[in-house]
Amino acid sequence: MWQSRFKDVRSITGSASAAVLCTILTQHLSSRQSEVYSEMVCWVLLPFLFTTSKPSNVSTFTRETLHSNPRIHVAYSISLWIVAAGVATACCYKAEIGVIGLFVGFSQKMKNWTLLTNYYQPILTPLLLIAEKHLRSELQASKGLDSWFFYPLANTIWGTALASSVPIFILSEWDLLDFSLSIILVASLLVVYVALIPKSIEDSRFLPLIKVEDDIIPLSSRIVVILVLALSVQTVAFGFPRIGIISTLLLGFMKAFSWYCMIRTVCCPLSTQRDIEDADGFSRLDTPLAIATFSMSATRDPFMLSSEIQALSQVVASFLSLGQIVHMLPKQAKSRSILWTFILVSLVPYLANIFAIKFAQSSALSFDHSQEHPIEALIHNAKADFEHLLQRQSKNYTTACEQYRLRYHAEPPPGFGAWYAFAAENQSPVIDEFDMIFNSISPFWKLSGKEVVQVMTDVQNVPNVDLWLCTFSGDSGKTRCSHPSRNFDRHIELLFDTLLGDLRGLLPDVKFLVNHLDEPRVLTPPQALQRGKLKFTDLTRRSSWDEITKYCASQRSAEAVEYFGLPFVTNLSTAMDLCQHAEYSAMHGILMSPTSFRLIEGLVPILSTGSLSTMGDLLFPSPAYIESEFRYDEAHDIEWEKKENKLYWAGSTTGGFVQNDSWRNYHRQRFVKLAQNLERKQHSYIRERDGAVVREKSSFLNSRLFDIAFTRTFQCERRYCRDQRMYFNFKSWADKDRALRSRLVFDIDGNGISGRYYKLLASKSVPLKQTLFREWHDERLVPWFHYIPVSQSMEEVPELAFYLTSTEAGQKRAKEIAEQGRKWYSRAFRDVDLSIYTYRLLLELARVQDPKRKANDTSVRQT
Ligand SMILES: *[C@@H]1O[C@H](CO)[C@@H](O)[C@H](O)[C@H]1NC(C)=O
Ligand SMILES: *[C@@H]1O[C@H](CO)[C@@H](O)[C@H](O)[C@H]1NC(C)=O
Ligand SMILES: *[C@@H]1O[C@H](CO)[C@@H](O)[C@H](O)[C@H]1NC(C)=O
Repeated sequence: MWQSRFKDVRSITGSASAAVLCTILTQHLSSRQSEVYSEMVCWVLLPFLFTTSKPSNVSTFTRETLHSNPRIHVAYSISLWIVAAGVATACCYKAEIGVIGLFVGFSQKMKNWTLLTNYYQPILTPLLLIAEKHLRSELQASKGLDSWFFYPLANTIWGTALASSVPIFILSEWDLLDFSLSIILVASLLVVYVALIPKSIEDSRFLPLIKVEDDIIPLSSRIVVILVLALSVQTVAFGFPRIGIISTLLLGFMKAFSWYCMIRTVCCPLSTQRDIEDADGFSRLDTPLAIATFSMSATRDPFMLSSEIQALSQVVASFLSLGQIVHMLPKQAKSRSILWTFILVSLVPYLANIFAIKFAQSSALSFDHSQEHPIEALIHNAKADFEHLLQRQSKNYTTACEQYRLRYHAEPPPGFGAWYAFAAENQSPVIDEFDMIFNSISPFWKLSGKEVVQVMTDVQNVPNVDLWLCTFSGDSGKTRCSHPSRNFDRHIELLFDTLLGDLRGLLPDVKFLVNHLDEPRVLTPPQALQRGKLKFTDLTRRSSWDEITKYCASQRSAEAVEYFGLPFVTNLSTAMDLCQHAEYSAMHGILMSPTSFRLIEGLVPILSTGSLSTMGDLLFPSPAYIESEFRYDEAHDIEWEKKENKLYWAGSTTGGFVQNDSWRNYHRQRFVKLAQNLERKQHSYIRERDGAVVREKSSFLNSRLFDIAFTRTFQCERRYCRDQRMYFNFKSWADKDRALRSRLVFDIDGNGISGRYYKLLASKSVPLKQTLFREWHDERLVPWFHYIPVSQSMEEVPELAFYLTSTEAGQKRAKEIAEQGRKWYSRAFRDVDLSIYTYRLLLELARVQDPKRKANDTSVRQT
């Protein structure tokens, strides 16, 4: 009799190997979308697996005792429900972690719970050992050390805790909230695993009383009932899922089979004292946990990890957990060392990744010596552009006035002399470069001063127009703003008081409308239609493209001003021009589904922080730029040499409101998708081969060069928030100054302009900026000299990141641009520079609204 059981013990290697294999496959197939569905398939299938295989003939308590004793019967039934709830909770938790929105890791797509396993593992393993010791007193005296290293790791409470803590200490970014929430999962899994502990009826004071192996049918039916409930809730909350039926069935089958193998491994019958002694204190309960840890750490794709340490510790973690598995099996288990071959599952991808990175780096070398990279040429030209910008500024008042007349065929506005004195006194490096102010103001010359004031009043009286009407008082220098329904002005008053507070007596009283929304407001019709009535269109949450491009003279798609097929930005105004890029209509949140876009069509002066190429808002510096949260503080910055050599971005899913699947094409989502290489699409690289510069395509993206993630989802309907959480790899939290620890920092539009830009520009890192919004500062920044411009498609980002981090010349250029941007920021972006700009804007505004001015009278000189 005992011989047959002993055979079971030996064949345990087989079921353990099968369990490992199945969990690895389950990991590869798993998707959070289908987690609950596949779990249900799994529990429907499991009873068949158990009944078709030979049922175990050993039970620690018999059904007769169970039914004859009413107290035990009730406890038994409760146990069943508790274990079933444990399984279902763990499953739903894994599926919906994204819904809680806090569990986020650096794991693969849709496997966000890897991090979590690393949390619950160390708690769960020692807890289980404690439970097991209580339940199986015979196990307490374990003996025999077959391996001095792995024995404690596999068989003592502290050893297992230590082994499982390794992944945490190396991998996790501690987050207390995540940690406390994971207790839900720990508790549910503990219940399930305790149910696996073989126990005798004397221990019945401990729930759960059931033995999964024997009670599989009543247990499965309960689990299925709970899962059906969970699925109904899920469907009501998020709508019908879009999952592949075949893959869900396959996954369910894989899950069932891994449960089956796991239970076979754990519940391999050991009942005689002899067996137990032979089995060398076989503590089998942790095996499923070790298997789970192993399969999770081994299947995490090193090609997705942004740090070398993470990738290496991944291998270390799988090595340790594999060691645990091997040494948790009884010594008699036949050739259990064979399990070590599974280390290849994590080792092979790791080595392949190392090789791919080394190969990419080797191709960087050639650019350092022989050929000039196309980016070099762009940077070289930018230097000349900047020198030209500095040189052409007027050096005295006479030339400043001449410049004004020359550029605009008009007299400078009244008060221009005082403005010039103010600018010169404050050493403004820019004197003449204010074309944007002129271009947006000049259409109003067609109206008389009285009409301009009238239109502002009229607009402010339109219901729900949501604009602030501000008045700058020339005597006090103070600005007061009012809104028909709002109280908080998002620091608009504060901004004007900060910038203009010292300008008492230099300006007349000026009225202006300010848009506090992130999106721009004004569409100026072409001249012929300009005197028509104002038209209000609410473009919120719908495509705005047709409306805001309707006055384009012609619409074209991108022309090929490209380098080797890569869309490096060579001319910023062309790159931002909607009329020249019909393809943008499906590439940016504001064009696809803006969060709040109240378009006003007609001639009305409104100040906005950013505007689109076709729109006519007057631009003013964003109040964000003077808020402390967005200000640069040198104390939080570090030297270039100490910065990580990678590209960083973290932020939320703002940019557009999500109410259908088109979020995949919003600008931020496209960026994160690209940088996390979630689609594994072909990227273009520029390489030197046999002395010639050529384009090469490859799906390889060196993830070590990117630290990019969403931290929050919002502006989306519940279902699509969930989809996004499941699709992207999230970071739970990011410090605002975390960006400054990387050499390259990305800056991308949100709903409107990005308020963090000045912090990045002022820092010792180099900003890569992607934007569709014009801003007040556009004329004083030189792309490729002060920052690196990025196209809307962002297809050049892989090559940009590669060149600037991995080649010697690229690193040198990146550092230079970081320094040039920083230096220029301290010269041309001081508060007083913002004052000089705003002062000049108000001068022009004062002139157009001067009640004495007649229509078309601007002292425009005929040329
Ligand atoms: C102003 O500068 C220009 C050249 O930049 C010079 O020719 C002119 O004489 C200067 N005018 C005065 C009044 O200094
Ligand atoms: C998605 O919603 C946007 C508005 O948010 C709409 O313009 C677009 O046509 C919708 N796309 C699909 C595929 O339904
Ligand atoms: C960009 O292109 C426009 C024409 O599309 C041209 O007028 C402008 O000068 C160019 N800008 C630069 C900086 O080359």
